[in-house]
Amino acid sequence: MTEPAKHDRLMEHEYDGIAEYDNPMPGWWVFTFWLTIVFAVAYALNIGGIGTGDGRVAEYEKDMAAFRAANSAPSAGTSAEALLAIAGDREKREEGREVFTRTCAACHAADGGGIIGPNLTDDNWLHGGRIDQINATIANGVLAKGMPAWGKILKPKEVDEVTAYVWSLRGTRPARPKPPEGELVAR
Ligand code: HEC
Repeated sequence: MTEPAKHDRLMEHEYDGIAEYDNPMPGWWVFTFWLTIVFAVAYALNIGGIGTGDGRVAEYEKDMAAFRAANSAPSAGTSAEALLAIAGDREKREEGREVFTRTCAACHAADGGGIIGPNLTDDNWLHGGRIDQINATIANGVLAKGMPAWGKILKPKEVDEVTAYVWSLRGTRPARPKPPEGELVAR
């Protein structure tokens, strides 16, 4: 037991002979305590200029905008960069070729020259010639024209790989090319 400091004083109550000293917390501690409460209120309100951010609603809108920007493609949502990376991978292109032979050749011909479906080797595109546009066309299909929505049938990985293969067909020379359809798209 240490001797009580001079400023300690006994409190009024006493139970069974047990008294209590009134030992207030040090000033710096009490100050910090009140500071955390003030901070908590500002933080909880999160008001622009007072709190930590632009306000909760603004922050929510900002997060949602960022999310939408990152997931803008209407298809499986694979970005053009990711698709180009797949297109640059020989093994994945080969996987895509197998998918194409199995599921697409019936309408587009094994070499992509086109039968019921359009020629995929030329520079003309009905639904856009960017790799992410091609990906979206394959995933969503063109139901009214007889092109199935492969996103519902194939795995997302297969849709991306077959996109990479279709991308690699451009500029090749099929045996019986269908005449160009759609808009001429510069490479
Ligand atoms: C049942 C026939 C059929 C099958 C099977 C088919 N397609 Fe198609 N595809 C079409 C038709 C028809 C169109 C043209 C749609 C139009 O006129 O708008 C088309 C269009 C496309 C286009 C857009 C071409 C452009 O000019 O914009 C791409 C890309 C494509 N198909 C890829 C594929 C891939 C990849 C597969 C296999 C996973 C596939 N298709 C399987 C019938 C088919």
